Amino acid sequence: MTVSDQQSNFAVGSKSFTAVAINCAAKAGEWIKTKLGNYTSLSLKYSAQDLVTEVDKGSETMIRNLIHTHFPDHSFLGEEGVEPGPEASEKALQRVRDAEYLWIVDPVDGTTNFVHGFPFFSVSIALSYKGEVIVGVVYDPMRDELFVAEKGKGAYVRGRRMEVSSDAALSKSLIATGFPADPHYALPMNMKGLQALVPQVRNVRSGGSAALHMAYVASGRLSGFWEFGLNSWDLAAGALLVTESGGKVTDTKGAPYDLGVRNVVATNGHIHEEMLTALAKADAAG
Ligand code: IPD
Ligand code: CA
Ligand code: CA
Repeated sequence: MTVSDQQSNFAVGSKSFTAVAINCAAKAGEWIKTKLGNYTSLSLKYSAQDLVTEVDKGSETMIRNLIHTHFPDHSFLGEEGVEPGPEASEKALQRVRDAEYLWIVDPVDGTTNFVHGFPFFSVSIALSYKGEVIVGVVYDPMRDELFVAEKGKGAYVRGRRMEVSSDAALSKSLIATGFPADPHYALPMNMKGLQALVPQVRNVRSGGSAALHMAYVASGRLSGFWEFGLNSWDLAAGALLVTESGGKVTDTKGAPYDLGVRNVVATNGHIHEEMLTALAKADAAG
């Protein structure tokens, strides 16, 4: 065996999947925070609303390198390694979704906020085993809040077990959505849903980070979230946070969550049917 073979086979053992996910998210998040108001290159991807900076790319490289140091044989799907646009994202997921171990990473979820200095963005890291998410971590570096879930073991923030809200009706709910970059299908669908839902709830927020919105559903700060045209890296970690906190995640037509879901409804469970019905009635379920 040559020295370079030995190096390429070297892996740091004994750290759990969750510990590695937490370590990656915390490290990347701290670095992203130091770059706030301090990035140097801004470019457009799929549309005039789809931004990317060197910080998105740097964060992804840092996370990928750390994961591969521990688990060199695991597959990796990160937003910045995929061509922009919905078709390319779907194809990239298809290629790896059934891998034994797959890490799914959004290195900065909420890039527009990051660029404008609006302090609501996150790092999202999920690990799936043969297509099923088993670890999910979402880190908000501005509030130093780390949301973490392990399949079957619950979800936690600041060391406390999370529980979804108990709001039993849309009329008592604060919910959230986002405004997708795809102007052809996802954005018009979301706007129709918005029109229908605003009068039925206490209010609607649009914080600008889908992963954090999911974490907020998990922690009971929101009772529901829906958005069209998201990607696996926006949703995978958050979906496990929500279900491990007692909530429900489906697509906008009510089919159970899987890695391919792009149009999502995530709730505390109690308002799920009401929300699906409201979207369907408004012809805003896709
Ligand atoms: C975006 C954010 C935003 C959502 C967009 C996403 P990005 O992710 O999650 O909240 O509305 O649809 O694309 O581009 O900042 O990683
Ligand atoms: Ca994202
Ligand atoms: Ca991103």
